[in-house]
Amino acid sequence: MRSLKRFGAIAGACLLILAGCNGAEETSTGSDPQGDMARGAELIAAKGCGTCHEIPGIDGATGRVGPPLDHVGERMFIAGMLDNTPENMRTWLMDPQAVVPGNAMPDTGLDQEEADQVAAYLRSLR
Ligand code: HEC
Repeated sequence: MRSLKRFGAIAGACLLILAGCNGAEETSTGSDPQGDMARGAELIAAKGCGTCHEIPGIDGATGRVGPPLDHVGERMFIAGMLDNTPENMRTWLMDPQAVVPGNAMPDTGLDQEEADQVAAYLRSLR
């Protein structure tokens, strides 16, 4: 419960930030968004996300355990819990069990940079 409160606070802070700088997210890392996306797709394939999720553009990603990730880039919430911001997607990908304890998505062992690359790919799914 304590961690949920923390995520709520983070989500609130992110909303304020996003409201102030619309569209600035792509340049904030200073890296090539295309490159990040390509690496993100490789990571998604390597980590086996497709055993649980249907993911456009990833070979063999036809899983039915979790929700399909088509259009995830334009969803309002992540797992029905977090506002769908880049920061929250990082949080979710790095520790889904902290956001929704007991849900069927395991911690997938992504570090922060990898999670951002995966998030960049997911954002492109519209
Ligand atoms: C063992 C199955 C499993 C694996 C492996 C898995 N997930 Fe999930 N994932 C789930 C489940 C189940 C949910 C739904 C959780 C919930 O809503 O509480 C979920 C939810 C999500 C969501 C939120 C979707 C939405 O519409 O809100 C994203 C994004 C996501 N997963 C991405 C990934 C990525 C990227 C990987 C690989 C790094 C991955 N998942 C690996 C089972 C899995």
